[in-house]
Amino acid sequence: MSSQTPHAITLLPGDGIGPEVTESAVRVLEAAGVAIEWDRVEAGGDVIAKYGTPVPEPVLQSIRRRGVALKGPITTPVGEGFRSANVTMRQALDLYACIRPVRSLPGVTTRFEGVDLILVRENTEDLYSGLEHRVTAGVVESIKVVTERACLRIARYAFALARRLGRQKITAVHKANIMKLTDGLFLECCRRVARDYRDLEFGDVIVDNCAMQLVRDPRQFDVMLLGNLYGDIMSDLCAGLVGGLGVVPGANVGDDVAVFEAVHGSAPDIAGKGLANPTAVILSSVEMMKHLGELDAAKRIDAAIHATLAEPRLRTRDLGGKASTDAFTNSVIERLG
Ligand code: NAI
Ligand code: MG
Repeated sequence: MSSQTPHAITLLPGDGIGPEVTESAVRVLEAAGVAIEWDRVEAGGDVIAKYGTPVPEPVLQSIRRRGVALKGPITTPVGEGFRSANVTMRQALDLYACIRPVRSLPGVTTRFEGVDLILVRENTEDLYSGLEHRVTAGVVESIKVVTERACLRIARYAFALARRLGRQKITAVHKANIMKLTDGLFLECCRRVARDYRDLEFGDVIVDNCAMQLVRDPRQFDVMLLGNLYGDIMSDLCAGLVGGLGVVPGANVGDDVAVFEAVHGSAPDIAGKGLANPTAVILSSVEMMKHLGELDAAKRIDAAIHATLAEPRLRTRDLGGKASTDAFTNSVIERLG
C-alpha cells in the first residue's frame, strides 16, 4: 500500500488529448490508493502571451522542487512559431536520457509476439540543438551538435540501466558511415563505455538497416542506444510494432529530476472527442510509481491494464474497440486488485 506522506508531483496536462489522458492516469493512481499531492501547471502555446516562453520559470521550479512530473503532450506548430516546449523543458532540466520500454501487450495482436525492448535516447543535443539559420535566399542550415560529454553520459546511463534490469545486449544505432564526425563520436563513446561492461554484449547497427531489421524481427534487439533524432523516429516505429502510439510509455530522466510521458503527441485529429487511448500515459505513471518505490501500486495498475486490454470490447478505437477514454479508464479501475 502507499506510504503515509503524499508524493509531491508536478502535473502538466498539456494540450490536445493531453488533459484527457493525464486525467485518466490521475484517476487510476487515486483508485490504486497512492497518495499524491499534484501541482498542476501549464506549459505550451497558451502561456506564451503571458510569459513570453512556452515553459515559464514557475513550471521549471515546480518540477525541480518535486523532482518528479507527469506530463501530457504539448503541440509544437510546424514552421514559424514558438520553439518546442518539450525540447525546451528537456534541455532546461537537463533530462538527458529518454527511456521507452516497448513490450507486446497480452491480447493485443500484432505481427510479432514477445517484443520486449528498451529504447534509450539522448535527449539534449544532436539536430535538436535548435540552431537553424538562413544562409542566403533559398539556403538554410541546421546544426547537429554532438559532444563527447553527452555521448558518454547517455552511454553510461544505458549500460547501467541494462545491467540493473538484467538485460543481455546493447545495440548502438548510428549513421557513422556518412556523418563520420558526429555519429562517429557517438559510436566511439558507446564503444568506450562498453569496455567497462564486459558482462553485456555490445553491437552497433546503421540506422536505416536498423529500421528494416526492426520490422523484420524486433526480437533480435534488447536495449537500443540512440541519438536524439534516430531515437525519436525509432520510438514511433517501435510503438507501431506493439499496437501503436496509444500504448507505449516513456520517461525523461536527469540526475535529479524525472518527467514521465508517453511517446505520442497531442493527436489533434482526435482531441476532445473522448477517443484517445490513455494506456500509454497510465503505463508512464506505472514507470513513475516504480521510480518512487511504489512497487505494489505499479504491479496492480500494470495488471489491471493487461486485464482490460485482454478483452477486445473494452479497448479504445485505435486497438479496434469502441470504448471511450473514460470507459476504458473505468474498466482499468474496476480491475485493480
Ligand atoms: P501524434 O502522436 O500526436 O499522433 C500520431 C497519430 O497517432 C494520430 O493519428 C493520432 O490520432 C494517433 N495517436 C497518438 N496518440 C494516441 C492515443 N493516445 N490514442 C489513440 N491514438 C493516438 O503525432 P503528430 O500528429 O505527429 O503530432 C501532433 C502534435 O504533437 C505535434 O504538434 C507534435 O509536435 C506534438 N508532439 C508532442 C510530443 C510531446 O509532447 N512529448 C511528442 C510527439 C509529438
Ligand atoms: Mg516523437
